[in-house]
Amino acid sequence: MAKKFIIEGGRYLKGEIRVRGAKNAVTKQMVASLLAPGKSVLQNVPEIGDVEITKQILASIGCKIEHDPEAGILSIDAANLSTHRVPEEYSGLNRIPILLAGVLMHRFGAAEIPMMGGCDIGPRPVDFHIEGLRSLGADIRYEDGVYRFSAKRLTGARITLPFPSVGATENLMMAAATAKGTTEIRNAAIEPEIVDLALFLQSMGAIITQETDRTWIIQGVETLHAAQHRVINDRIEAASFAVSAIATRGDVIIKGADQLHMLTFLNWLRKAGGEFETVEGGIRFHGVQSKLKPIAVETGVHPGLMTDWQQPMVILLTQAEGMSVIHETVYENRFGYAETLNRMGARIQLYSECLGGRDCRFRNSGHRHSAVIMGPTPLKGAKIEIPDLRAGFSYLVAAVLAQGKTEISGVKYIERGYDRVVEKFQALGVPISVVEE
Ligand code: EPU
Repeated sequence: MAKKFIIEGGRYLKGEIRVRGAKNAVTKQMVASLLAPGKSVLQNVPEIGDVEITKQILASIGCKIEHDPEAGILSIDAANLSTHRVPEEYSGLNRIPILLAGVLMHRFGAAEIPMMGGCDIGPRPVDFHIEGLRSLGADIRYEDGVYRFSAKRLTGARITLPFPSVGATENLMMAAATAKGTTEIRNAAIEPEIVDLALFLQSMGAIITQETDRTWIIQGVETLHAAQHRVINDRIEAASFAVSAIATRGDVIIKGADQLHMLTFLNWLRKAGGEFETVEGGIRFHGVQSKLKPIAVETGVHPGLMTDWQQPMVILLTQAEGMSVIHETVYENRFGYAETLNRMGARIQLYSECLGGRDCRFRNSGHRHSAVIMGPTPLKGAKIEIPDLRAGFSYLVAAVLAQGKTEISGVKYIERGYDRVVEKFQALGVPISVVEE
């Protein structure tokens, strides 16, 4: 049965919450654990839909999984994998299946992966993954919606990615860990979640070096062994609650918010008038005295402003005095949620030009990837439907700010990526209830 959230708005957030492990780290580490025929253990695992989907995918190919959601401990025993075929039912649920290509080739010499999905934020092709794996020596065919990969053993190669793709870097890093010889991945992604994957692989016996210029060097080893790892905290969840605290003029301590991984976000938050201070084990965000100011920002790959921080940032800027500009340079179609915010009273206009920054790859694509936000605008409650995960959280924040009641449908998107989100908002004083539709 589908669920919806009902929120009584006009509130401010006050209290303390704790963020847990990052969605975009844990699911990749679950996949990486298959490189070793043993039982790996992950700690700080969040309770989110994407972990559940990934558990099901791994169980469907023979992993034995034990999960204590309360303690955040997940063990994956990959000793006896049963098949190199990812069942078709998992295609379209998230971006994980394609990441199994190299891992399954290591275990079986072959992999069959149905076409994958994820949120509806652009076409999200996998050409970089395919070309990279081909460079490592995989034979790859695409037939009837299924990618078929084969290689007795992959061979190290020098690969330059056309764009520093997170998924492609992770896929190639995992594939190269047990390839014959050395692999260089140039123009690679270097997000903290990728460094965390490298750390887990290193604990498993891999030899991975990060150079200063977006290059990963992976010296392939023959085998890896099972290992334990504590997943890095979720800097998207932390930033999302931080913005919620400031936008609602609240006062929230976020335990587990890590300044090191939020440096860029915190700079922009400060420029927008948001106030914060580091405290033991986290960061306190307080917006009671904040005079919110307009800013011009551009999203980008790490160490730039994450594309996943953009949506809550837009909500904050609807409350700033003046005109703000956000130029989205990672995904071509990530402002689909703005129309609904306008229905709630925001004034956001979208443009296909590259506004407020340098020209990006979407310059002449016709995609509306720049937003101009006029503030401050009071928001009012509405009945709304979530289009994707990150937009979903920003609707929640908009609902908390808005006068009146907001009903949010499509909450499965939020549950895919945010740990115990209802409990956390309730703990911060927001009247939010969950009803079946
Ligand atoms: N791209 C290609 N070809 C490829 C791969 C990527 O053209 O083969 C393009 C994409 O279309 C996009 C850009 O490169 O325009 C960046 O894509 P990337 O591969 O970096 O993204 P991803 O690995 O699919 C992950 C996160 C996203 C996050 C991005 C950027 C996961 C499961 N997803 O996606 O998170 O926005 O990196 O940091 O790790 C989310 O959590 O809601 C989410 C969308």
